[in-house]
Amino acid sequence: MSGALCRLDEIDDPGAKGFTLLQEPREIFVVRQGEGVYAYINSCPHIGTPLEFRPDQFLTRDRTEILCSTHGARFELTTGHCTAGPCRGKSLMPVAVTVLDGWVTICP
Ligand code: FES
Repeated sequence: MSGALCRLDEIDDPGAKGFTLLQEPREIFVVRQGEGVYAYINSCPHIGTPLEFRPDQFLTRDRTEILCSTHGARFELTTGHCTAGPCRGKSLMPVAVTVLDGWVTICP
């Protein structure tokens, strides 16, 4: 699993963007904070639903945390650790990504 997903500047800062991959894990999203990128499988540790109701809406209104739209769980941007909600203490599954020449890229 490797490849460029998008340009870093295509993601708001802070912001997030969802992607459907051709291979597992199929549904992921990337969070940007400054020059840092953090990616997770788009599956809430509560009951496994996707986190967003609307495309690319993965963050709280103030963009300080990741939000699960189903039951309101909140997760840290940079670790995916759940800080509040029904899956408090659990974490999103990370996907290794980096920025290469301005492209958000999945690590091989
Ligand atoms: S499915 Fe995410 S909080 Fe319930």
